[in-house]
Amino acid sequence: KYKMILDLDTGIDDALAIAYALADQDCDLIGIIGSYGNVLVEQGVRNSLDLLYLLGAENVPVYQGSACASTKNRFAVEPVSATIHGKNGVANLSLKHSPQKPAVENGVDFLITAIHKYQKELIFVPTGPLTNLAAAIKKDPAIVNLIGNVTFMGGALSVPGNVTPAAEANIHQDPVAANEVLRSSLPLTMVGLDVTTRTLLTKKETKKWRSLGTSAGEIYADLVDYYIEAYQVTNAHLAGCALHDPLAVAAALEPSLLDTVFLNMKVDTDLPFEGRTIGDETRINKPAETTQVALDVNKKRFLNKFMTRLTGLF
Ligand code: BDR
Ligand code: CA
Repeated sequence: KYKMILDLDTGIDDALAIAYALADQDCDLIGIIGSYGNVLVEQGVRNSLDLLYLLGAENVPVYQGSACASTKNRFAVEPVSATIHGKNGVANLSLKHSPQKPAVENGVDFLITAIHKYQKELIFVPTGPLTNLAAAIKKDPAIVNLIGNVTFMGGALSVPGNVTPAAEANIHQDPVAANEVLRSSLPLTMVGLDVTTRTLLTKKETKKWRSLGTSAGEIYADLVDYYIEAYQVTNAHLAGCALHDPLAVAAALEPSLLDTVFLNMKVDTDLPFEGRTIGDETRINKPAETTQVALDVNKKRFLNKFMTRLTGLF
């Protein structure tokens, strides 16, 4: 059984990532780190606590991570994220408050300690900006060779970005951190828009959750219906909402869901292509490629697993 740590900017697809991790038998979710992105970091932490409570997993600790990119001194939620995930990240629903408080330890320190403790057994899945991971590497460079795998949701190699024509949202939040991560020797798998925009959920599936008659089924159906409606406005060409973050969790546990290529990657940290994930021309002849970039996904297998696991959990 793998130990997993999630690092989330808890909006709606992050909420689905939590549910997937809890529902998978091969996964022992040992902690969640809160990041900023879809929401401010405090709100993201609150959402994670409340979702864990809803799913009967309030024993999983939640650690607060960075509040903004290290190159900036503040972070403001962009109106477009608020439209897609709701102002509070969870479709403007008032979730029942968890009695649990955020853990006292900082998210970055928790990550470093856990990597030393579990080493190759540990999988880290960031589905928000890569700020916390970059901070952890800076603080303790030894961790890059200890951890089992980092599977992150972010970037786009063969398709356009979603916040600018060049950049995907998570990478665009902190291109400097993402570049440090991609240029490190961490064992990385990049689950970007190349694959996540191919795995879509529709109201047919959420209807199934609603019909369970449980509060988790009902709330997750409300969350995802909101997300689907927002997608119809912003991504009318897609026939549903993209399952970005849960795909990263599923692929971390079962890499064969993806077709990947090995590539040395980098991130553009400046305009005009700030946040673009692209092959690193300075490392073309360096053979040690540590990043696997997902270029295709077995949609049917993933969606089946996703529905079986989440429906079972709710
Ligand atoms: C990513 O950005 C966030 O809005 C989503 O939660 C996802 O992690 C998609 O680009
Ligand atoms: Ca996310």
